[in-house]
Amino acid sequence: TRIEKAGHKHFMAKEIAEQPVVLADAFKAYRGADGKSITLPSGELDFTACDRITMVACGTAFIACQVAKYWFEQLAQLPVEVDIASEYRYRKPVISDKSYALFVSQSGETADTLAALRYAKERAAKILSVVNVPESSIARESDLALPIMAGVEVGVASTKAFTCQLLALAALALKAGHQRGHLDDAEMVARLQKLSLLPGIVNQSLALEGAIERVAQLIAPAQDVLFLGRGPMYPLAMEGALKLKEISYIHAEGYASGELKHGPIALIDKEVPVVVMAPTDELFDKTVSNMQEVMARGGKVVLITDAAGAAEAGDGVWQTIIMPDIDPFLAPILYAVPAQLLAYHTAVAKGTDVDQPRNLAKSVTVE
Ligand code: G6P
Repeated sequence: TRIEKAGHKHFMAKEIAEQPVVLADAFKAYRGADGKSITLPSGELDFTACDRITMVACGTAFIACQVAKYWFEQLAQLPVEVDIASEYRYRKPVISDKSYALFVSQSGETADTLAALRYAKERAAKILSVVNVPESSIARESDLALPIMAGVEVGVASTKAFTCQLLALAALALKAGHQRGHLDDAEMVARLQKLSLLPGIVNQSLALEGAIERVAQLIAPAQDVLFLGRGPMYPLAMEGALKLKEISYIHAEGYASGELKHGPIALIDKEVPVVVMAPTDELFDKTVSNMQEVMARGGKVVLITDAAGAAEAGDGVWQTIIMPDIDPFLAPILYAVPAQLLAYHTAVAKGTDVDQPRNLAKSVTVE
């Protein structure tokens, strides 16, 4: 069947808008029939049989792995190593037969990720993959291939595949936490309840599109944009920067907020917008002081936060986007939406080819 834009100007816009529906599909695929557990759609898995997970991917899928590292370590106390496939495959990585190796890929055909999988296959206890295309090479060569239910993604810049990868990885991390005795039944039910609300909250966030479009118009003339985040929002800062550079061709970098003073602060002046992705959490006051460091140098802060965060940030913030409240556990999934919309509307304002950005391919099947 031919995939249409369904009234949207670009596939990317359609795919951003589809996220509440595909995230609900993904949740249904992983929620156990009893409503109290996670059931993997493609077979069982025992996380007590491994002592480490190695995650390998490219591009946006690599960023999904970086978020998942926080989840697996916090929820399941499982050490996680994350690497870019093109590095992993050649650096002669040490991998034990007690490790699970997990490959994340939308297409399931990325050459470097497939080569990394083949390297690990001879050494790891199990080869897992999180893929969008079930009949792909990566899925076929895995011991267990986990679907993400995103449906066909056409836009070169990955959007709904990213959030669905995150949902599948969150479900896996919950399962691992439960099996390894770090999440009890009540906590599992509470987390599943929060996951069940996510598609609706993502839908609410789409209503911020007009506000984000106005900020995008202000960002469009910039030469450089910096994205900052802490904890699991650090990978999101990298995703925001990746999306922006891919489709608007503005130079953008994602940094850990606490690393600001070790380099990127040298770039800050009134020409450099700094996008801070920070739902309120226990480290929010540290993020506020990072923002103050930026503002003291004339930097223009775009703060993406919730209502409490906007109040706590005080004066001096250039632009604020107020997101719906969300449990910090799921914030990385929700905050992907404003990152995507900001990149999308900046690209539209600049008139670039959103769905087919120059020099990029949807799937990189050659090295
Ligand atoms: C290309 C695409 C990205 C994607 C990356 C990894 O660079 O443009 O959107 O994240 O490949 O692709 P995969 O299919 O392995 O997720």
